[in-house]
Amino acid sequence: MITPKEIEKYCENHSTREHEIFEALETATSTFAPKASHMQVGNLEGRFLSFFASASGVKRVLEFGTFTGCSSLHFALAIPEDGIITTLDRDPSAVAIAKHFWEKAGVRQKIESLVGDAVSSSLKIEEEIRAGTRTPYDLAFIDADKAGYPIYFERAVSCVKKGGWILVDNVLWSGRVLNPNEASDHAIHQFNESRKSDSRVETLLLPLRDGLTLCRIR
Ligand SMILES: C[S@@+](CC[C@H](N)C(=O)[O-])C[C@H]1O[C@@H](n2cnc3c(N)ncnc32)[C@H](O)[C@@H]1O
Repeated sequence: MITPKEIEKYCENHSTREHEIFEALETATSTFAPKASHMQVGNLEGRFLSFFASASGVKRVLEFGTFTGCSSLHFALAIPEDGIITTLDRDPSAVAIAKHFWEKAGVRQKIESLVGDAVSSSLKIEEEIRAGTRTPYDLAFIDADKAGYPIYFERAVSCVKKGGWILVDNVLWSGRVLNPNEASDHAIHQFNESRKSDSRVETLLLPLRDGLTLCRIR
């Protein structure tokens, strides 16, 4: 993470309180995956996602990387009753936890969960949009495996309408993009470099949590 823990906590403590269900979700996630619970977007970034979605009038979200459902729950609480989140993940046991909390929060009906490889699920979605059997999305949120980011971004460009948004998480990769060493460091750095020269989108990379890129489709 980029932001010091105390700063992140201070920001959380001086923002509107989030829904109480997130505390229980965090506890359940730590029990389910003690070493991976940091994969959740967390309170501050989650609040940013819901704030952004409601401020931008987003109704339809395509998410790459459900895990135990933290970010999708933030979106679901922000979008209107007739909105929908399609969220992709290949781990059925994490998704089972997510479903339990979506149910508890009363937003289950707003979430379409597709379990399987995100590359193939998103290809199917892209084909359906092309065929006119699925409506394009207002926003895509990319937070699955980092090696897949380039392909997920291309899918997002095809699946999100003009003027819509693509948000990409962990783009600072704990600062390792500054001195890339491992394959994942290079993959994220290369992804960021490609956005700089991508004329299809207007891009803003923010140092929120582990780095969040906001792209607007021109
Ligand atoms: C960082 S976590 C997502 C966190 C989630 N957005 C949240 O806020 O709780 C990444 C997720 O991507 C999933 N994932 C990784 N590679 C995948 C792939 N090829 N297809 C589908 N899901 C994948 C993992 O199972 C994991 O649950």
